[in-house]
Amino acid sequence: MDAISVIRTKRDRGELTDEQIDWVIDAYTRGAVADEQMSALAMAILLNGMNRREIARWTAAMIASGERMDFSSLSRPTADKHSTGGVGDKITLPLAPLVAACGAAVPQLSGRGLGHTGGTLDKLESIPGWRALLSNEEMLSVLDGVGAVICAAGDGLAPADKKLYALRDVTATVEAIPLIASSIMSKKIAEGTGSLVLDVKVGTGAFMKTLDDARELASTMVGLGTDHGVRTVALLTDMSTPLGLTAGNALEVRESVEVLAGGGPADVVELTVALAREMLDAAGVKDADPAKALADGSAMDVWRRMIAAQGGDPDATLPTSREQHVVKAAATGVLTRLDAYDIGIAAWRLGAGRARKEDPVQAAAGVELHAKPGDTVTEGQPLLTLHTDTPERFDYALEAVAGSYDIAAPGTASTPSPVVLE
Ligand code: URA
Repeated sequence: MDAISVIRTKRDRGELTDEQIDWVIDAYTRGAVADEQMSALAMAILLNGMNRREIARWTAAMIASGERMDFSSLSRPTADKHSTGGVGDKITLPLAPLVAACGAAVPQLSGRGLGHTGGTLDKLESIPGWRALLSNEEMLSVLDGVGAVICAAGDGLAPADKKLYALRDVTATVEAIPLIASSIMSKKIAEGTGSLVLDVKVGTGAFMKTLDDARELASTMVGLGTDHGVRTVALLTDMSTPLGLTAGNALEVRESVEVLAGGGPADVVELTVALAREMLDAAGVKDADPAKALADGSAMDVWRRMIAAQGGDPDATLPTSREQHVVKAAATGVLTRLDAYDIGIAAWRLGAGRARKEDPVQAAAGVELHAKPGDTVTEGQPLLTLHTDTPERFDYALEAVAGSYDIAAPGTASTPSPVVLE
């Protein structure tokens, strides 16, 4: 077998055989297939697609490239959630302790932000002392003792995906449904969760811009999970406007703690509770009421123990930005659009995200929203507050938000999109 013949098969719109797929993933992980050959193959897959059999085999080969975790020693059923990424998407923070408070164990392997979408680990690292890197033994011990753990995936889990994802990121080959589905599902299946709820985002701030593409990605991933014995369901949820009222690391932790304290923005609460219900159902936990666990403080209790178990101080003051700039509404009327992508880019330019994997992020940088689509606003009222420690970034962020919103004449009917679309 050789890389050139595998690339040629896909370049010429052929189907890769099981043997070709197993060989190319294994050889790439070992370094016997070069990055330039794998990027040519990834581009051929992006342009010519893969059928369900090819995607299933590709996913199985990526799982087989590394270790598999095993949570069968736990007394509770396991449930995990994966979001395909969005702006202001802090849902994992309140969700993991909430589902644990309701009786399931939540092994939440999370990632860092790249580009305009934030990353759960970057958000939690704004809590003084909190550690994302745990050994497999530490992870299991937090999961067993607290019921929920949010941490980075170890190096041994789906190493083929780690190499391939980094390569796709710099070769414009991220946005291919077969590659996204196999990348996400290889990690989730190798992680060993018993059930999985996928939050597939749709809209300007998401990878999938249309409902049709989101449906195809969701059904591909649900099929892969189900075939590997993981009870998998998917919700399609709106990402045309940011979730909640904040986009940025410490800003989002603060908002998540508000949700755990029984308050917080309505859309964040709605999506957290909807995903919690799906996770508990998929895990077979009956008679639990996530809304009650938010209201009675039991989810907050798990959050505090989970943060402390990973070295964080749940009572520590979160970092605040050294400089702020307020963007005011240009007219009186009804806010009909506040674009998720533009706000995500602004937060990133303010320092909340990174341009390269090795860049540091600013814990306090980001964007605070003072209104959401459907709200009435008055000319001159604060619409957004931009936060950063480096004010020279304001101009660049202001360019991103300049066209980010529309205000229609007073009285215009505006129905914001529902949070859960399907
Ligand atoms: N998240 C992943 O883990 N992989 C992708 O390909 C896209 C999003």
